[in-house]
Amino acid sequence: MLLPGSLSSKNFDAPTYSICHMSSFGAAQGTHDVGQRLSWKLTPAQAEKRVDWEAHRVNMQTVCLECHAHSTITAMYDNPDMLQGNENVATAQTIIKKLKDDRLIPSTPFSSSIDFEGFEIWHHEGRRSRFGAFMNGPDYVQWQGIYEQLIDLTELKEKDAELRSNGVASSTTVQDTSKSTKGEGL
Ligand code: HEC
Repeated sequence: MLLPGSLSSKNFDAPTYSICHMSSFGAAQGTHDVGQRLSWKLTPAQAEKRVDWEAHRVNMQTVCLECHAHSTITAMYDNPDMLQGNENVATAQTIIKKLKDDRLIPSTPFSSSIDFEGFEIWHHEGRRSRFGAFMNGPDYVQWQGIYEQLIDLTELKEKDAELRSNGVASSTTVQDTSKSTKGEGL
């Protein structure tokens, strides 16, 4: 029988969600506060490090070290992929704010397709690429993440230029749903 606190890499070849985020595993102490092993906040418009992120990172890496060499882990943690989307989100939000300030689109949230596009750049593709980077999912980082984010950002810039030259948008009311991967996955 396994006693509480006795699980280790002898019992599991590969980790489950619980092993990495909650379980006591080898030298790692168990917790039900999943934030205790997270070093980043990935959900806000701009991903940012948590308060006490260094301690949280040690907590998580204590689990990883039960199965991996230190170099495998740090290579993953230093992966710059996870922050690629931050700048695109900031660019989109600045464009949208200026359009509202200049009264070229309504200020009420989600009253124009441009608002939805801005939301997707952050909340849909942006977050998906970050989570993909942390969970070792390159397809989510690239094809379903940054690639789609750049499509939306390019469309947003075109609409911005059009609105600024005409004072009205001719094609801003219809959302393009033809992109291949939208609505799939996460
Ligand atoms: C219970 C053992 C175990 C734990 C704990 C564990 N891993 Fe792994 N990890 C594996 C195994 C086994 C593989 C290989 C999977 C495969 O090849 O299909 C792997 C693969 C990887 C890879 C891919 C390596 C490559 O060459 O492609 C990375 C990166 C990685 N793990 C990082 C981590 C990190 C970071 C943690 C801690 C958050 C962690 N692992 C926790 C067992 C573990």
